[in-house]
Amino acid sequence: MFIIFSLDESAKLFAGSRRETHYDRMTSAKLLSILSAAVLFAANLPAQTPAHTFAIGTNDFLLDGQRFQIRCGEIHAARVPQEYWRHRLQMAKAMGLNTVCAYLFWNLHEPKPGEFNWSGQADAAEFCRIAQEEGLWVILRPGPYACAEWEMGGTPWWMLKTDGIKLRSRDPRYLDPAKNYLKEVGRVLGPQQITHGGNIIMVQVENEYGFFGKETQYVDELRKALVDAGFDVPLFQCNPPDVMRNGRLPDLFQAGNFGSDVEKNFAKVRKLQPTGPLICSEFYPGWFDTWGQPHHTGKPENYLPNLKRMLDMGASFSIYMAHGGTTFGLWSGCDRPFKPDTSSYDYDAPISEAGWATPKFFQTRELFSQYLLPAEKLPEPPAPNPVISFAPVTLNEIAPVFDNLPANPNIDEVPNAMEKYGQGYGCILYRTTIPAGAAATLEAGAIHDFGFVFVDGKRIGVLDRRATAAKIALPARAKEAQLDILVEPMGRINFGAEMLDPKGLIAPVKLDGAELKDWRIFNLPLDDKMVGGLKFAAGTTTAPAFWRGQFTLEKAGDTFLDLHHWGKGVVWVNGHCLARFWNIGPSQTAYAPGCWLRAGKNAIMILDYVGPEKPEIAGLEKPVLGELHPEKDFARAQRPAVKLNLTDNVTTIKGTFAPGADTQEIRFMNSAAGKYFCLESLNAFDGKPYAAVAELDLLDAGGNAISHNGWTVAYVDSEERAGEDGSAENAIDGQTANFWHTEWKDNSPDHPHRLILNLGKTQNISGFRYVPRQGQDSGRIKDYRVLIGDNLVSPK
Ligand code: GLA
Repeated sequence: MFIIFSLDESAKLFAGSRRETHYDRMTSAKLLSILSAAVLFAANLPAQTPAHTFAIGTNDFLLDGQRFQIRCGEIHAARVPQEYWRHRLQMAKAMGLNTVCAYLFWNLHEPKPGEFNWSGQADAAEFCRIAQEEGLWVILRPGPYACAEWEMGGTPWWMLKTDGIKLRSRDPRYLDPAKNYLKEVGRVLGPQQITHGGNIIMVQVENEYGFFGKETQYVDELRKALVDAGFDVPLFQCNPPDVMRNGRLPDLFQAGNFGSDVEKNFAKVRKLQPTGPLICSEFYPGWFDTWGQPHHTGKPENYLPNLKRMLDMGASFSIYMAHGGTTFGLWSGCDRPFKPDTSSYDYDAPISEAGWATPKFFQTRELFSQYLLPAEKLPEPPAPNPVISFAPVTLNEIAPVFDNLPANPNIDEVPNAMEKYGQGYGCILYRTTIPAGAAATLEAGAIHDFGFVFVDGKRIGVLDRRATAAKIALPARAKEAQLDILVEPMGRINFGAEMLDPKGLIAPVKLDGAELKDWRIFNLPLDDKMVGGLKFAAGTTTAPAFWRGQFTLEKAGDTFLDLHHWGKGVVWVNGHCLARFWNIGPSQTAYAPGCWLRAGKNAIMILDYVGPEKPEIAGLEKPVLGELHPEKDFARAQRPAVKLNLTDNVTTIKGTFAPGADTQEIRFMNSAAGKYFCLESLNAFDGKPYAAVAELDLLDAGGNAISHNGWTVAYVDSEERAGEDGSAENAIDGQTANFWHTEWKDNSPDHPHRLILNLGKTQNISGFRYVPRQGQDSGRIKDYRVLIGDNLVSPK
């Protein structure tokens, strides 16, 4: 729709906006050109004059000058089929929210430098307009960095084509495109602000930057970029209170992110920001899942009481996530050091992945209904979308990957990351010739993330990023042979310095020490063009291959594709790339929304790198989100058995932590060098046998955190994996909301507990930062020892 305004109306539109103040200094020619731009700028406005005002007051948020308690919940448009946006927003409204919070993902909106996408799933303005129609305000979080378990935290992959680029900094190679993107966001979403008749009330600058850096000028540049882009509503920063001081602009409103300990966390915010309303900008009802780790559910005793506390205090909040949805396609991210996220982003949110009202939904609605304004009334939830199932069908058309390679491979002396070959997503094949010879060890500089290795077409094994070295044994060859390494990248890391996460096979690749040269590299981007051109034939084959088939429905409805029989790969339905899957779990199904299915025949296609047990698929009425199968893992079913050496050539430091949940930084008298770092708990504050750690960082000589890149858990004496996800990796994934916890459900082994990290190489360590488990006291360590050395652990 295109509305033509008279010049008068256009001028009125801008009344009260920042641009107005410049008018008096302009020539009339300039004024005319700005006004015609204003007509364009205003073309999508639902209302011509702002009907409401929003401000951050001394004690409260103010809507039309009145105290306004923001009851917000996060929903990402990209994670919900566009056809269902209204349904999910109606659900949010019926749950009692008055506002929704929405990240934008830069990489979805700018797939190629300077080429923007705002249509279909990426039509963020339409999402906001529907929210407005449903009576919801919007808090917009446009990035450029989002985190959110989204590929590279929303950063476009093409940034990685620039060697040495410094993400989230003032490096112009990052900042200029970031500003350009924000300008574009302003063009598209600026008209949707409350100041222009829309419903966007606040806009976030960066995201949890305090976790990453301290450069206030960088944050200021982004703030300026938002203002220049036309954002004239209040701006804000959000951070977990413990890192809020890093990179904080003193004149920018601060919001806190936390999932527990409401009073303590708000008290920390208050220290930095003595006045202004209190808002928890991310309050976690559950958590996201990563492959191979138990499914997460939130603790009921944590969720409702904390929400109630915030309501009673008059504080505002945003439930992250109110509705998580699905990270469709290849957009799922990865936690550090390397914990790829599942495609289901159910999050144990009150509105389930498929948009169902969960018990948490009704509890929240019930709670909120006690805090409504006199004129407020909660609408009834909309009817749930129909759910269907279908009986198993066999996918009997096959397109082997090796028979579907592009005609013109890249030629390179040594293998490089796929970004160098112009590819952002999908998978990529590296091929070379190896000489005849005895059995030998193949070793790569690095593998990001899984390299399926074939000699003359026969599968040998998998190079696995989770292993400490990218190594594999090759059999003897009577003659020259063709070596193929098909690399499957998972999502790029979305957190911390590790976000620089190029994908592929990285040189040098050596066979018993001799470097392999002269490679042919085949791009397999798995985009619509590539999968549309695959050559299928009936028959059987071994993986890696695409399997294709059809299922027939009487009527369309939501269903959950049962992937129990399949190995590891990607699934499409009717041309929609739905999800990644992996038989190790925890998710064993993929959500197929009914709006992408139809009555009659539906096409399904599966890329499986490992191969199915049988090529069958069915549609279920319920998802399977929490079923682990470590025995199906091709490489790392269990932690390898190791021998410990905690005495020879070991530096030992003893200490006592402070009680409470605050982050503690411990500096050693002298730095110690070692490839292994062991934290040993001697007892806990509550006298119980448990140890827990939310996060560990090691400090270099300058007191800065050392990158977790290449770190692995070398040994842990106990970790709870049945009652909750207490895996040791949680202590080094950069997230403070989850934690390593020793067993409590079936066993309760006593102290000392030991967590030993393999740092990949010898590091000089001047101290460490310890974040105790948040929310509950149980497991908080009192007396500890730290052991550092090069040989703490060896294979058994
Ligand atoms: C942080 C980030 C979010 C999200 C959550 C975990 O708080 O700000 O984007 O990644 O963690 O889900």
